Amino acid sequence: MTALFTHDLGDGLGLALREEWTVEPLHQLILENLDHLRPWEPWAHGEQSVDGFRIYTRGALTDWIEGRSLPAVILQDGAPIGVAGATIDAYLATAQLGYWIAARHQGRGAVTRAVAAILDHLSTTRAIQRTEIRTAVRNRRSRAVAERLGFTHEDTLRSALPIGDHRDDLAVYGLSPGSDPSRPGHPSRQHPRRDPEAVQGTGRSVVDNTNYAS
Ligand SMILES: CC(C)(COP(=O)(O)OP(=O)(O)OC[C@H]1O[C@@H](n2cnc3c(N)ncnc32)[C@H](O)[C@@H]1OP(=O)(O)O)[C@@H](O)C(=O)NCCC(=O)NCCS
Repeated sequence: MTALFTHDLGDGLGLALREEWTVEPLHQLILENLDHLRPWEPWAHGEQSVDGFRIYTRGALTDWIEGRSLPAVILQDGAPIGVAGATIDAYLATAQLGYWIAARHQGRGAVTRAVAAILDHLSTTRAIQRTEIRTAVRNRRSRAVAERLGFTHEDTLRSALPIGDHRDDLAVYGLSPGSDPSRPGHPSRQHPRRDPEAVQGTGRSVVDNTNYAS
């Protein structure tokens, strides 16, 4: 049985499982933040019905029970202000992270703290050996979260991320917390920031299925 997931992140911030009670407040938060989310999140361009959101949340909770996801909500004084989560491949012992936070709660480290707690949970309770963050190359704030947590910018996939009516280049960040500390990707290492434009794509085709909010 999987343990319940809650974390105190300090300063009134917390992280909890994205249970049914979060559906309506998170849906409302998304509607209030569509202009903030649409430049970065493919799902924010689709229909935002509360019923669709409820179905998505129930599916994510089922995936959690079956070990395929960790859907979490970021809380401020008990109220949802964003989400952070992971899709998990238990067979490969890998996970892919996703996150967003309401515009007015940016800039306080809430997301970095939430993702750090998720990383800890994934490595200690799920034995995850490799974690990825995939984000638009031009998403400076999202890339800063990855770099702050010691992820390595491993590759850039050209036109891999559809956003509204255009496609963005996608930066792939990787972290291997279970690896030898001397290897790239380990959080204890200092990573020089790499110019994304200097990293050439590999020609791999990638489908980004991350969808933590709709
Ligand atoms: C990407 C996104 C989640 C980043 O949010 P964020 O608020 O910048 O990230 P954090 O909450 O970790 O805050 C980091 C900031 O808090 C500061 N900070 C304060 N206390 C901190 C702490 N204890 N730990 C870490 N950072 C702290 C950092 O210095 C940083 O400041 P800066 O913005 O001046 O550089 C947010 O911009 C967002 O939701 N964007 C829209 C959706 C999106 O892009 N999602 C990601 C798709 S891949």
